[in-house]
Amino acid sequence: MSELAIEVRDVRMHYGGGRQRIEALKGVSLDVRRGEIFGLLGPNGAGKTTLLSCIEGLYRPDTGAIFVAGIDVLRDPQRARRKLGIQLQSTALIDGLTALELIEVYAALYEVYLSRSRILDLLEQFGLVDQANRRAKQMSGGQRQRLALAIALSTDPEIVLLDEPTGALDPAARREVWRMIRTLKEQGRTIVITTHSMDEAEALCGRVAIIDEGRIVACDSPHQLIAVADVQPVLKATVELPLEALPSLPGATQLRYVGEHLEIETASPEATLQALYAAAQQHGRLVRDIAVRQPNLEDVYLKLTGRRLEPSA
Ligand SMILES: Nc1ncnc2c1ncn2[C@@H]1O[C@H](COP(=O)(O)OP(=O)(O)O)[C@@H](O)[C@H]1O
Ligand SMILES: [Mg+2]
Repeated sequence: MSELAIEVRDVRMHYGGGRQRIEALKGVSLDVRRGEIFGLLGPNGAGKTTLLSCIEGLYRPDTGAIFVAGIDVLRDPQRARRKLGIQLQSTALIDGLTALELIEVYAALYEVYLSRSRILDLLEQFGLVDQANRRAKQMSGGQRQRLALAIALSTDPEIVLLDEPTGALDPAARREVWRMIRTLKEQGRTIVITTHSMDEAEALCGRVAIIDEGRIVACDSPHQLIAVADVQPVLKATVELPLEALPSLPGATQLRYVGEHLEIETASPEATLQALYAAAQQHGRLVRDIAVRQPNLEDVYLKLTGRRLEPSA
């Protein structure tokens, strides 16, 4: 048995033709190990859904190879797909069917026929047992997301692919879905999630591939990604001074305004802050709302691509 759950080798894939041609994947390679939670982190349009669709055998790459549990997806997509649990986007849930019916129908597509009590067990596992006879359209966003997870798990797959599993959820519902994803890992499954949230990638994933414009620009544990990118802590403060009025601050490697907050990348936050105080005082201004943030995946992304992952952050 292959020790890799998923192998992707130099996959290229485009949409459209002529002037409309878009190179969605420009030579992507990655390995997902058995039993890990692997994150594909990147902004909208990076190619995350396209890559998952290729792994699922729904799209055929132009070139390259993909193996799922050692099975060649291009040669034997149906056998490969039987190893996979695929989370439907919750918006795609067929609104008129009840939770029970949806699970039954989805599993049957894979020739898995579930008893009623097995379906109720699944709903129980995802906190939906009281929703068994409700239609998907009557459910809250969090319930629909959890139903999408229950459906993905209905065939008892080794490998679970989740495309933005916490998309539009509020923080409490999001944490609930995270807890459930961790439970899937504890059951020994391999999980691949896509996300554009670095919080989510850091909170959940053992390893993260950062994907940008169809290319993997880095792949490692969140901790290693941060260490290797050599990004500095960020000192944040509100100070009513334009950048031009600030002297060169000791330790500071980068200064920028994000909204009205000054952000300073600095190797020595204390020395930088002291100098900032002194400069503000000279101009009769105050330094307020001081915080020091340790480097995170957002900083890694910014360093690797020159852009921010989450424009609102
Ligand atoms: N069905 C499609 N037809 C044409 N272009 C597409 C289609 N799906 C995605 N794209 C384009 O391919 C690129 C990658 O998209 P996608 O894989 O959906 O990214 P992500 O999931 O990371 O947001 C984007 O430029 C997107 O506009
Ligand atoms: Mg997507």
